Amino acid sequence: KSDERLVLKEINKLAAQFFYTALRKNNRGLEYLENREIQNDTIVEFGLGYSPKDSRELYRYLKSKGYSDEILLKSGLFSGDEKNGAYCKFWNRIMFPIMDGNNRVIGFGGRVMGSGEPKYLNSPETPIFDKSRNLYGLNFARKARAPYFLLCEGYLDVISLHQNGFPMAVASLGTAFTSGQASLIRRYVQEIYLTYDSDEAGTKAALRALPILKEAGISAKIIRMEPYKDPDELLKKAGREEFEKRIKEARNGFLFSLEVLERDYDLNSPEEKTMFFKEVATRLSKFEEDIERNNYIEAVARSYHVAYEDLKKLVAKTAISLG
Ligand code: UTP
Ligand code: MN
Ligand code: MN
Ligand code: MN
Ligand code: MN
Repeated sequence: KSDERLVLKEINKLAAQFFYTALRKNNRGLEYLENREIQNDTIVEFGLGYSPKDSRELYRYLKSKGYSDEILLKSGLFSGDEKNGAYCKFWNRIMFPIMDGNNRVIGFGGRVMGSGEPKYLNSPETPIFDKSRNLYGLNFARKARAPYFLLCEGYLDVISLHQNGFPMAVASLGTAFTSGQASLIRRYVQEIYLTYDSDEAGTKAALRALPILKEAGISAKIIRMEPYKDPDELLKKAGREEFEKRIKEARNGFLFSLEVLERDYDLNSPEEKTMFFKEVATRLSKFEEDIERNNYIEAVARSYHVAYEDLKKLVAKTAISLG
C-alpha cells in the first residue's frame, strides 16, 4: 500500500508538469491568468497549469510512461468506462496543483476560464488526498515565519495574498473547515485571521469554523471584507495597505458572531432589543471561566451601550435558569 501511495504521488507530479507545460502553449489560459493579475513568478511558484481540451492527452502521456489503467483510475484524474476509455476530468480548465506541507502534489483544483458550471472541479479523495487533513498553501504558509495564518476560502485568495506579500495564507479545500485542518494549523501557529468571503455562505462558514478553532486551541479573529467579496477582490481594488489595515482592525470571533446575530433583530424596537440581549446573555453565560466571561460582558456592554451591571445580572439569571 505504501508502494501505491508512492506511485500515486509520481503520477500527480507528472500530471502537474504536463499541465504546466500545456499552459505555456495555451494563450487563452495565459490570458485568463493575466486578466486575473497573476504574475509569471506566481505561476511558476504555484505550478499553475492548463488541462488541454483534448481530454485524452494526459491519459496517453501517462500510458506512455507505463502506468496501468487501474492505478490511473485511482489517481482521481480520470473518468471513463470500458467502452469509451479514460479521459481527464479537468479538460479545458486552469489547473491548481494542491501540495502537501512538503511540496508534494496530492491533488488538483481546476477552474473554468470565464463563466461556466461547475466553476471549480476538485480531485476526489484518494489514498494520498485526504481533504480534511490538508490545506491549500500550507507548503508556503509554514515557511512564512509569521505568528499567524490567514484562513481563506479559495485557491485564488491564497495566490493573490501570497503575491501581495502575505505568504501565510491557507484555504480549506472547497469543503467545510475541519478539526483535522485545525490541528494541522496548530502545529505551526496559535493565531488565525479568518478572511472568508463576505457573502452569506462565507459568513456561515466563518461561524462554523470558530468553535472548531477554539477547540483546537487557536485564537481566531475575523477580517472585515465588505464591500469586497473576497481577499482577492479586496487586494485588487483596494490594495495591500488596505488589507494590512484590516488585519490590524480584525474583530474578535465572539463579537463577530453577535454582529451576525444582530441582523435578525430590530434594535430600535424595545421588545426585539430585549430579546436580542437575552440571547446575548445566554451566549455569555456559556463562558466557563469567570474572568473570560466578565471580560466579554464588559466588551459587549461597551459596544452596545448597556450598563455593565445590568448585563452582568442578566447573564447570572440566565445561567441559573439554564441550570
Ligand atoms: P468561490 O466561489 O468563492 O470562488 O469559491 P473563488 O475562490 O472566489 O474563485 P474566483 O475568484 O471566482 O475564481 C471558494 C472556493 O470554494 C471551492 C474552491 O476551492 C474555491 O476556491 N469551490 C467553489 C469548489 O470547490 N467548487 C465550486 O464550484 C466553487
Ligand atoms: Mn513566494
Ligand atoms: Mn464564495
Ligand atoms: Mn470567493
Ligand atoms: Mn474570488
